[in-house]
Amino acid sequence: MQSHLEQEPKQLHIQAQQGDYDVLIGVHLLENAHRFLAPVLDPTASVMIVYDEALAKLGYVDRMVKGLAPMQSNVYTTAVQSGEASKSLACAEELYRAFIAAGLDRRSTIIALGGGVIGDVAGFAAATFMRGIPFVQVPTTLLAHDASIGGKVAVNLPEGKNLVGAFHAPRLVLYDVSTLESLPLYERASGLAEAIKHGVIYDKELFVFIEEHIDHIVAGDTELLTTLLYRSCKVKAAIVSLDEREAGIRAILNFGHTIGHAIEAVQYGVYTHGAAVAIGMVYETQIARALGMVEEELADRLLILLEKAQLPTKLPAVQRTEEAISTLLEHMRRDKKARSRSLSFILPQHLGSVILNESVDEDLVKRVLAD
Ligand SMILES: NC(=O)c1ccc[n+]([C@@H]2O[C@H](COP(=O)([O-])OP(=O)(O)OC[C@H]3O[C@@H](n4cnc5c(N)ncnc54)[C@H](O)[C@@H]3O)[C@@H](O)[C@H]2O)c1
Ligand SMILES: [Zn+2]
Repeated sequence: MQSHLEQEPKQLHIQAQQGDYDVLIGVHLLENAHRFLAPVLDPTASVMIVYDEALAKLGYVDRMVKGLAPMQSNVYTTAVQSGEASKSLACAEELYRAFIAAGLDRRSTIIALGGGVIGDVAGFAAATFMRGIPFVQVPTTLLAHDASIGGKVAVNLPEGKNLVGAFHAPRLVLYDVSTLESLPLYERASGLAEAIKHGVIYDKELFVFIEEHIDHIVAGDTELLTTLLYRSCKVKAAIVSLDEREAGIRAILNFGHTIGHAIEAVQYGVYTHGAAVAIGMVYETQIARALGMVEEELADRLLILLEKAQLPTKLPAVQRTEEAISTLLEHMRRDKKARSRSLSFILPQHLGSVILNESVDEDLVKRVLAD
């Protein structure tokens, strides 16, 4: 659904130790890429667009190439297969070799055109190629708003997700919201889960904004999505700027993720990241409820909002047998935040406020999951 928007994108300035950058959110950004990228690109150097292969037939790669043409003559493109499997060292190696074949050097810029997978693997390749060259994020999924702020890039190992990575902030994030129109509903819902999380952990007004507009957001209203992304990016940026290297407050971003990551690990491929986090948020809120520390109203509002966002809120019974719950707990213990036999959770108190509880009894977690 296309609604009327002013021409200029919304702009968010991010302060990062490795250098400040802007996040531009709006429509018609790809075809005008030269305008927005001019301040960060060297017109005499090469640019490599690393894109999700699924985007070529949607026309986004052409739009970006044409958008750069007025200022940049050396534009190369290379496709990456869609899907989490591309976040691998093997894929990064293929990218390095494509960079060399195209004659890239230290002045060159990598443009990551795609969702969180492309941002992570192309960003990782940029962070490590020739000890680090500049990169620009051009997110095309709703979830990637979370991935494009915070400067973390990574690939997976067979042993686990994001085990090899770097901090490498982009020079610019160019968010063309019109690309979200082709996103399947469940992928849009996946990104919405992170925005709802940002509301719960830090920004009550964001939560209320999503509540008020949920139906139109789910339907893909571009203007509402632009505002949603702007506000959700702002929360992530605020938290990350307080704690770039993940020593303290940044941990609150893990609300819903202790259980969510375990679900993703056990039910690989069954749930999108956001769907797993949605279920995680509901169970983790139940834990807070059992501990008597959450405002009753929050639990109800969260559940209703997630349902309206077309997200799952519970694991089906077959995924909650005694054995299945034990396996989930094993994964939670393996989670880097786990200490001893009690588990560590970010638990909500009231909208906009969460706290870290490092000693949640495992039996309580089992009871909540089995309920
Ligand atoms: N670095 C970070 O801080 C950070 C934060 C959150 C998530 N992540 C990572 O992000 C990844 C998940 O990101 P994602 O959900 O964007 O996944 P994704 O990149 O795999 O994209 C999801 C699917 O949507 C398709 N797609 C992308 N754009 C599209 C469009 N405009 N229209 C139609 N289809 C489109 C892709 O081909 C893919 O099949 C995970 O690997 C996660 O670890 C990283
Ligand atoms: Zn997440």
